[in-house]
Amino acid sequence: MPSTLKIKPKRRKAIHKSKSRVPLKQLHRRDGYGSLTSCGKNYMASDTAIGEDEQEELISRDGTDPLSLEATFDQRQGGPQVPDLYTTPPPIKDSLTTDTSISQDNTVQQCLPHLFASGKSLLSVNAHGVPSLEREGHVDFLHDAIENARYIPYDAVRPWVLYWSLTAFSLLGENVETYQQRVVETLSVCQNLSGGFGAGHGQLSHVATSYAAVLSLAIVGGSESLDMIGRRALWRWLGQLKQSDGGFSMCVGGEEDVRGAYCSMTIISLLALPLELPPNAPTRAHGFTSFLDGLPEYLSRCQTFEGGISGRPQSEAHGAYAFCALACLCILGPPHEMLRKYLDLPLLISWLSSRQHAPEGGFSGRTNKLVDGCYSHWVGGCWPLIEAAIKGSQPSALTITPKFGSLYNQEGLIRYILSCCQADDGGMRDKPSTYPDAYHTCYTLAGLSSTQYFSYYNGTRNAEAGYPLDSAFQWGFSKKSPQRDGNEEEELVDAEDMLVSLHPIYVIPWGAVERSHGLFSQKTGF
Ligand code: FPP
Ligand code: ZN
Repeated sequence: MPSTLKIKPKRRKAIHKSKSRVPLKQLHRRDGYGSLTSCGKNYMASDTAIGEDEQEELISRDGTDPLSLEATFDQRQGGPQVPDLYTTPPPIKDSLTTDTSISQDNTVQQCLPHLFASGKSLLSVNAHGVPSLEREGHVDFLHDAIENARYIPYDAVRPWVLYWSLTAFSLLGENVETYQQRVVETLSVCQNLSGGFGAGHGQLSHVATSYAAVLSLAIVGGSESLDMIGRRALWRWLGQLKQSDGGFSMCVGGEEDVRGAYCSMTIISLLALPLELPPNAPTRAHGFTSFLDGLPEYLSRCQTFEGGISGRPQSEAHGAYAFCALACLCILGPPHEMLRKYLDLPLLISWLSSRQHAPEGGFSGRTNKLVDGCYSHWVGGCWPLIEAAIKGSQPSALTITPKFGSLYNQEGLIRYILSCCQADDGGMRDKPSTYPDAYHTCYTLAGLSSTQYFSYYNGTRNAEAGYPLDSAFQWGFSKKSPQRDGNEEEELVDAEDMLVSLHPIYVIPWGAVERSHGLFSQKTGF
């Protein structure tokens, strides 16, 4: 068990992070006593801090100043060890060289130094060689991102920039209520009288921007925010999107794919809109009367021969579409009923498992493609839904058996996110060779959060007892404690790098879901 020392430097940039865990064999105080502790999990709860002047007192046993940039990971003797799985190229390799194999090899080469923490300051990684979460840098980055949302280049994605930034702020524990008024002002010009939200003023309503707008309003909360949504017009407009094969198009006359189904059902369920189709909905001509008609069957047809889920039937499976389809099914009913009934779960699990790469540890979106931080959510977010489908309803977190391991390698995902996705000046990225943006910051942090909490379905009520889509609101969460084979394990991530938990279906904080559902499920009519 490594000994540790909490160090809180005054200058964030100077020493990468405001705390670290450093092995006893490498660091000691000149005074020979003090804050080094070595008692399992307690080391993470230690509040012992030293000032900048005291940092100079720290020396390594080999005489190197561990705070200097020269004291790098490579120089450590007996320091944090990163398991070979994350530092060694795959032992088996296809001899055929293609553009795809070259891109894959290049990706491994760019990730390896980050995974090995090569050249990193001793104090920027913990005892497991995992870098700290650069919380302040990410918050600064997000402040810039949300400020930039008002500029013209963001005219096509404005509600999205709000959603990504607000969700990421929430994950980092920042107060987003301060954005209430500005979010309402920005989104009120995106809302169309004919229903739905466009990306900007005067733009056609689109279900993806409507999804981002509704979720952003739910996140900031406040009566003005949710009340500004024209629910009746939204309901009528969504009726135009319902298609005769059971799915939804993205906008009137636009393409149809599983994003349309997930975004529409997110809006309908969160705002408790009537499930009955509006009188003028075109699919009434095909005998449909409800938004739900033919929907689970449509999603089922999107599962491909590989086991993954494609945007539409007979297309290529992709992780982003898989999340949309699974989350949509979980809006329609309990996970163990819907996922087992409408999907080949073993085949899906097999395909999802193939999304995780070694040594990188992160997920790719589809077969023969590269790891990317955003799939930490799109693929990573599928796992809790699948785990809930396997376990069935659980009345409380206490019933979660500690011996139930994860269906994927969480350590790999955590290492990829913290080692490869954090940009030096804040913000999260796809991979080391790319620049950070709000989208990757949001979904990479969402993926990291999902490694820190269990989400479980605790539904007991049946659909007849209330709003028919009640099951989406019968989920709970609890903090994970690292377990393997029933034995408590050391945390891979420091206690202060914990994030806030998000609802596994709506991908916003739990409180935001409860607030919206609480407000609208009480309302009769519009
Ligand atoms: C391929 O991009 C990406 C897709 C085919 C799907 C993108 C869909 C989403 C991100 C989901 C959107 C969700 C909502 C809720 C609107 P690529 O070819 O650049 O990436 P790849 O090489 O990793 O497949
Ligand atoms: Zn990406």
